[in-house]
Amino acid sequence: MLQNVYILHAIIIINRKANPIFAKIDYTLMDTIQQLKWRYATKKFDATKKLTKAKLNIITEAFNLTATSFGLQTIKLVVIESKTVREPLVAHTYNQKQVLDASHLLVICIQDNIEEIDVSNYYQNIKNIRNTPENILKPYREGLASMMQGKSQQERQEWSKNQAYIALGNLLTVCAMEEIDSCPMEGFIPAKYDQTLKLNQKGLKSVLLLPIGYRAEDDMFSTLKKVRKPIKEAVINI
Ligand SMILES: Cc1cc2nc3c(=O)[nH]c(=O)nc-3n(C[C@H](O)[C@H](O)[C@H](O)COP(=O)(O)O)c2cc1C
Repeated sequence: MLQNVYILHAIIIINRKANPIFAKIDYTLMDTIQQLKWRYATKKFDATKKLTKAKLNIITEAFNLTATSFGLQTIKLVVIESKTVREPLVAHTYNQKQVLDASHLLVICIQDNIEEIDVSNYYQNIKNIRNTPENILKPYREGLASMMQGKSQQERQEWSKNQAYIALGNLLTVCAMEEIDSCPMEGFIPAKYDQTLKLNQKGLKSVLLLPIGYRAEDDMFSTLKKVRKPIKEAVINI
């Protein structure tokens, strides 16, 4: 079966220049899984390699295009290039050096609270972009505002955290497709990050890290086989 897929792939590659439809099939059938197998949680980055501005732009755009509940976007991405800023963070990451050696460190944050102004700004943005009339938006705006009011601050933070994990998943896939190495990380002390990066002053809380860049040639994890359950155990077809 697998052999047939590879033969099909070879045929498609031969044809792809001639027919863009084949190129599309080639992309969806093979490259996605290939790239997801290529990626791994990078333990050792090549500290000399830097991401281009173009690659960084893809990452920041992809973050902003992440789906969020209601579209409210109560998460923020902090992009850190400076090694001076990153050096003290290693100790707050249980000495995991990826946060320093990677080209850039991404810190996915949540707002420490969600206020009524966040909801009204969101609906104002819809009005500006889509010209949606007030009478259509009003009930949605009021419904969302009342839903948020019904939550405690901790519940609002948990709600935002769920969005942060979606952004992480999205960025992991985009990195894989762009051949950017990355390491998803929750092994750090958020309170120390918040203090060091003065996130409190911005009304933010750190939730997840994603160092991005290029793997070191001698990262032994890059050649290890993927450990996953057999697909039959992971997926139930009903
Ligand atoms: C939410 C989350 C948190 C993680 N935290 C860390 C971490 O702190 N340090 C680390 O080296 N890897 C971390 N990992 C990486 C996982 O260990 C890794 O993704 C998993 O073992 C599967 O391996 P693979 O990503 O190489 O396929 C984390 C992964 C996820 C999704």
